[in-house]
Amino acid sequence: MTEGNELRPIVGGNWKMNTTLYEAIDLAESIVRRLGDPGDIEVVLFPPFPNLQAVDQVIDGSALQLGAQDLFWEDKGAYTGEVSGPMLRAVGCRWVIVGHSERRHELGESSAVVNKKLHAALRNDLQTILAVGETREERNAGRTEDVLRAQLTESLQDVSADAMDRIVIAYEPCWAIGTGDTATAEQAREAHEFVRSVLADLYGDDIAQATRIQYGGSVTAANAAELMAQEGIDGALVGGASLKPEEFVRICEAAAPV
Ligand code: PGA
Repeated sequence: MTEGNELRPIVGGNWKMNTTLYEAIDLAESIVRRLGDPGDIEVVLFPPFPNLQAVDQVIDGSALQLGAQDLFWEDKGAYTGEVSGPMLRAVGCRWVIVGHSERRHELGESSAVVNKKLHAALRNDLQTILAVGETREERNAGRTEDVLRAQLTESLQDVSADAMDRIVIAYEPCWAIGTGDTATAEQAREAHEFVRSVLADLYGDDIAQATRIQYGGSVTAANAAELMAQEGIDGALVGGASLKPEEFVRICEAAAPV
């Protein structure tokens, strides 16, 4: 449980490329059943594209919201294999993730591409989780802050101050994602503080203080409470543990304000 945290915590379950259709339905049903009324937090599920519509039906009437893991920067046209903002809206998405490290590093997405996707999301009235984070090599070389500043500045290029209330930042150190090697509470708090200072440089202090920053990277039921208790950590983006309903719900409980 978080204490003294003024911003409404947000927990995302990023299922990545997991769940076929009926697995997704089962997982969503199980989360709905266990979560009940989560209190004053937002909880968003991010299933793979083909399962969005089915999951939307399962979570209808519950406290859960629906999001997509990515989108393309154009709204329609000859872009084989891509999925656009209007398509996501039409199947019930209210959220989308851009800039996830697996897309930046495994699929070669630059911050310039992330920026185009972020504009597409905003244009289509999708609330957006913008993910940033350094690699192990970058941290070891003392470059964490440079990398975070560059990713934030380039990804948020030409995004107006007015749009910032529809954006959540996810700080996800690449070395912590899917590795079991969570950032310490101290490392996470420091990075969040730095991210907020960059937002203050870009948009001023009021907007920086009002923007939610999630931590992501091997969040589990065992470490969530300590991470969520840190000042400036406003929720979690959860990968592996979001596929385990009981554990995911415990993480949501840890993020909920007292
Ligand atoms: P993980 O993934 O919880 O499995 O480390 C987090 C993420 O990639 O968002």
